[in-house]
Amino acid sequence: MASYNVAVVGATGAVGQMMCRVLEERNFPVKTLRPLASKRSYGKKITFKDSEYEVEVLTDDSFKNIDIALFSAGSDTSLKYAPKAVASGATVIDNSSAFRMDPGVPLVVPEINKSAISSHKGIIANPNCSTIQMVLALKPLDDAYKLKRIVVSTYQAVSGTGKTAIEELLNQSKAALKGEPTVSAVYPHQIAFNVLPHIDVFESDGGTKEEKKMVMETRKIMDLPDLAITATAVRVPVINCHS
Ligand SMILES: NC(=O)c1ccc[n+]([C@@H]2O[C@H](COP(=O)([O-])OP(=O)(O)OC[C@H]3O[C@@H](n4cnc5c(N)ncnc54)[C@H](OP(=O)(O)O)[C@@H]3O)[C@@H](O)[C@H]2O)c1
Repeated sequence: MASYNVAVVGATGAVGQMMCRVLEERNFPVKTLRPLASKRSYGKKITFKDSEYEVEVLTDDSFKNIDIALFSAGSDTSLKYAPKAVASGATVIDNSSAFRMDPGVPLVVPEINKSAISSHKGIIANPNCSTIQMVLALKPLDDAYKLKRIVVSTYQAVSGTGKTAIEELLNQSKAALKGEPTVSAVYPHQIAFNVLPHIDVFESDGGTKEEKKMVMETRKIMDLPDLAITATAVRVPVINCHS
């Protein structure tokens, strides 16, 4: 069976750690694993299939001999390094929003549009988490009845913002329960014992970029460019589980 040299960019993050776990759980044929992160993670180690791997600092040369590069270190990192990975011969699967709406990049949920993968030119984009969950439920309905309009509200866990947001929720919750003042650094307001109808940045129409992503990405994945969609995205004080 073929096996692959796999790089995980952002391997120390909330998503990157889960990517490594899923590669292991599914027994994906990994020949070598190259965990990559920022200088902050210099010297850190991760365990994968009973072996320890040193986390390497991401550089222009990180993708030598890599077949598959899983990116999950934010859009700026993807924009800068995904083209370098492709130039080195790797296929990039990008979990950030950097390339999702690029007409030359397939945006894929395998259960919905896996045939789009064959058109890739080195980068395959992975959609927003809430969009994935929604289109999985809606595709069979569209096949059977044709969708006219989507009105969706999402309630999203802090894990979607990353490991620092999980720490912020825990620290604020402890402080609030002791009656002490809370500190907000990741979110603009306290998230513990609160809900924030604000995910990603605000757009000029008063909605948020998260809500716009759900609209635009759904249309692209389902190949329904004129589908009417209205989305509301709310951050809620739980660690895991978007709804
Ligand atoms: N598609 C989806 O469903 C979905 C869901 C959640 C998140 N995301 C996306 O996934 C990405 C990561 O999210 P997360 O929740 O895992 O965030 P996180 O917990 O904050 O982790 C960020 C990771 O990126 C690394 N990183 C940050 N800046 C870097 C740089 N300049 N060079 C190299 N590595 C760098 C960090 O390394 P250090 O540890 O060294 O800082 C860390 O490994 C984001 O783009 C986010 O929008 C997508």
